[in-house]
Amino acid sequence: KIIVLDFGSQYNQLITRRLRDFGIYSELLPHNISMEKIKKINPKGIIFSGGPNSVYDPNALKVNPDIFKLGIPILGVCYGMQILAYYLGGKVEKAQNSEYGRADIKVEDSNCVLFKGLPSKQYVWMSHGDLVTKVPKGFKVVASSKYCPISAIADDKNKFYGVQFHTEVRNTEYGLNILKNFAFKVCGAKNNWTIDDFIDMKVEQIRDEVGDKKVILGLSGGVDSSVTATLLHKAIGNQLTAIFVDHGMLRKNEGDDVMKALNRDLGVNIIRVNAQDLFLSKLKGVTDPEKKRKIIGKEFIEVFNQEAKKIKDVDFLAQGTLYTDVIESGTNTARTIKSHHNVGGLPKDMHFKLIEPLRKLFKDEVREIGEKLGIPHDLVWRQPFPGPGLGIRVLGEVTKDKLHIVRESDAILRDEIKKAGLQESIWQYFTVLPGIKSVGVMGDGRTYDYTIGIRAVTSIDGMTADFARIPWDILQKISTRIVDKVDHVNRIVYDITSKPPSTIEWE
Ligand code: XMP
Repeated sequence: KIIVLDFGSQYNQLITRRLRDFGIYSELLPHNISMEKIKKINPKGIIFSGGPNSVYDPNALKVNPDIFKLGIPILGVCYGMQILAYYLGGKVEKAQNSEYGRADIKVEDSNCVLFKGLPSKQYVWMSHGDLVTKVPKGFKVVASSKYCPISAIADDKNKFYGVQFHTEVRNTEYGLNILKNFAFKVCGAKNNWTIDDFIDMKVEQIRDEVGDKKVILGLSGGVDSSVTATLLHKAIGNQLTAIFVDHGMLRKNEGDDVMKALNRDLGVNIIRVNAQDLFLSKLKGVTDPEKKRKIIGKEFIEVFNQEAKKIKDVDFLAQGTLYTDVIESGTNTARTIKSHHNVGGLPKDMHFKLIEPLRKLFKDEVREIGEKLGIPHDLVWRQPFPGPGLGIRVLGEVTKDKLHIVRESDAILRDEIKKAGLQESIWQYFTVLPGIKSVGVMGDGRTYDYTIGIRAVTSIDGMTADFARIPWDILQKISTRIVDKVDHVNRIVYDITSKPPSTIEWE
């Protein structure tokens, strides 16, 4: 196990992720963690992450200097290296030329274990306003760049190392090799950790924490809450009650599929609340997308609360929060384009203790856990689906009939995409009902019916997206089948805008 201490860099969690990918268990922990805790964890190595501060800021994030006496190898990354220098008697100063972006470094000591087996010239990703201008006693300079003569430092005797650049990002040519050298060669870590170990560890932690108490969880039907429910079930069986609020805006068969997989096959204790009519009545006459989101989010919590009250003596509320959710809700700088109300959200006024077993993981790790726990592949690898569901794919007022049209057309689209083997290469694909009617001709008659829009995009993270180049003949099949099979649809259009300027969803 190697621990990463958090000094606030946006990349800090990536370091733990890289180590887990190497097969070494790693967790991000607070920078001011106590020495007792570290001793208890007994890590093979410690990494200080980067951070936005300057070590001389009055409120700079610091460490307990006793950490240097533990005899555990330490690697300081960026601000982490400055922390090393600061505490061990070196000097950190404001840089004349602050560096942001690519820089070329020269390895000064090719025998240095960090750079073992790597070329002497390599490019790295720098992002710093301060730099180390004097190395502490016992250290030598092992790499340099034009504007940062002390780019990497080493004290082989104490096994303390520092790099001014970010090893964890892809823009550092040999970043992963450097991390590996530290982890395996310096720390002697073994690459025998697997996701099964994570499951076992979490199961044990959950049992420890919960004891014989009861836990409730709001199941939205999505991947995160499904995996959380299944993991908790494995740990504490029927002490968990999952409340599945079916708002009637899920995709075709989705609610039943979730019940089959989690409840029938895996035995998770689930109360399904069919609240379609309630949601529809609350949405009656509402056309503004943001208002619709708010109503759906609020009702979800309301229904959840009502059901939760019926269960006596509950102490814990479990949530499927992931690392990305933590990051996204932690930034105050991004402007709100859509409120992105996540329907699995926490009822704020409830007095439960929170359990969030997936909080430190990335989505693909969660999916892997889901499969290991026996959730079917198709459920676990579903495309992203918004909390308010089809409610924001029927544009304007949501009605039962319109929901039916989007749901059926969406099911056909998904089926054809799957048949064509395109489901892995497209980030999201769905249909929308804009609500416009147009004239068509079917058989001998004139029709005046709805248009369906097809939206399909490729993307890495949903932040930006490009419209997917689905082959014409497949689009043609989809179009024919939808118009044939779904009543009141006589026209199909394909959305050819990217994000930006559009968004992925139409509302
Ligand atoms: P946009 O439409 O903003 O979507 O380009 C980006 C990603 O977010 C999803 N999305 C939502 N997810 N609640 C959610 O949980 C929402 O209200 C919501 N709106 C959009 C969208 O499907 C895409 O993956």
